[in-house]
Amino acid sequence: MHLLPNTVLQSGKYRITRVLGQGGFGITYEAEQVALHRRVAIKEFFMKDYCDRDEATSRVTLGSSSGSKELVERFLLKFIKEAQTIAALNHPNIVKIIDIFEENGTAYYVMQYVDGGSLADLCKDGHRLPEKEALYYTRQIALALDYLHHRPEPMNHLDIKPSNVLLDENGNAVLIDFGISKRYDEKGGQTSSTPVGISHGFSPLEQYKDGGVKEFSPATDIYSLGATLFFLLTGQTPPSASEVNEDGLPPFPLTISESTQMAIIKAMSPRRKDRPQSIDSFFALLSLTPSNGTSAKNDGLPTKDTNKEETTEDEEETIIQEPVSKGQVSRQENNEFSRGQISPRTVKWLVGAFIVAFTFVLTIIVLILRDN
Ligand SMILES: Nc1ncnc2c1ncn2[C@@H]1O[C@H](COP(=O)(O)OP(=O)(O)O)[C@@H](O)[C@H]1O
Ligand SMILES: [Mg+2]
Repeated sequence: MHLLPNTVLQSGKYRITRVLGQGGFGITYEAEQVALHRRVAIKEFFMKDYCDRDEATSRVTLGSSSGSKELVERFLLKFIKEAQTIAALNHPNIVKIIDIFEENGTAYYVMQYVDGGSLADLCKDGHRLPEKEALYYTRQIALALDYLHHRPEPMNHLDIKPSNVLLDENGNAVLIDFGISKRYDEKGGQTSSTPVGISHGFSPLEQYKDGGVKEFSPATDIYSLGATLFFLLTGQTPPSASEVNEDGLPPFPLTISESTQMAIIKAMSPRRKDRPQSIDSFFALLSLTPSNGTSAKNDGLPTKDTNKEETTEDEEETIIQEPVSKGQVSRQENNEFSRGQISPRTVKWLVGAFIVAFTFVLTIIVLILRDN
């Protein structure tokens, strides 16, 4: 089915080392760019359910019946176009495309090799990241998204999830897999009508609907970004969008700050219009800024040891809160918005202190007036 190790492409320019992954639309390989002695990743267009390969020649057949042939050819063109689009992107948190070519009756694009594993690898077997580290990666993915959302022809990635975010040698997040991304015209209308994929737990409700992402909307990617942050902090795949719609989100570990919980709940609102409408508003909920990831709460780089949860006193054991119901969500949202960065608990304390002080002063004034 896939190219065998040592197969060469482009007359020996690239040599396949191994398969990295296979999705519905393509096979990703690790390969060597021979002349430069460097590792690269190569994605081959290969629609799992429609394509076949002649093992002897490596040639791919694009669908056997005439109907499927047409469909596969349409997707092949989209694949090439997509590769050209990503090649034109220039952002430190988006994978770089080095080369695009056609061979074996199909198409390939060559990428920089990102060798630090994915965010999904980092949270294998329910492992959770400390909040500071989770926010560090989330901010970087958000910056990549903001860049896509502000292109002259804006783009939605539409497949933000932990396995599509890799870590480079400096521990920075790099966004990959633009397989189902969509480009829109300047007015936000779609430029092609290829169907949309779904990743349960990470895709919002509108992605399940026919024509649900016809128009450009940052809030669609923001849902998946919130879901990714949920995964990093809990080690659990979030419930599917319809479950979130029915029951809200499951409990967060108590160690997670209130502002981060609120940002996730808001980003994962079932209704698109209830979510932050831009990456900037998402940042505001998290007390992050685009230019600076540091804030009083979230300073610095991730810790090197990702195998340990940050512990403060009494935090040996994770205490689970009650599930957050929809009513709670809207109440908490209101608190968040009317009071900016001050937590509701602080506000309650300040109001209480003010009432006590006010009553005290009033009593003194009444006593003085009565004495006179
Ligand atoms: N540039 C890259 N560098 C290193 N590994 C990569 C790179 N691109 C993809 N991979 C690996 O291949 C896997 C599949 O690639 P991806 O583009 O996500 O395709 P799909 O999910 O459609 O199979 C990724 O999860 C990752 O492990
Ligand atoms: Mg992928």
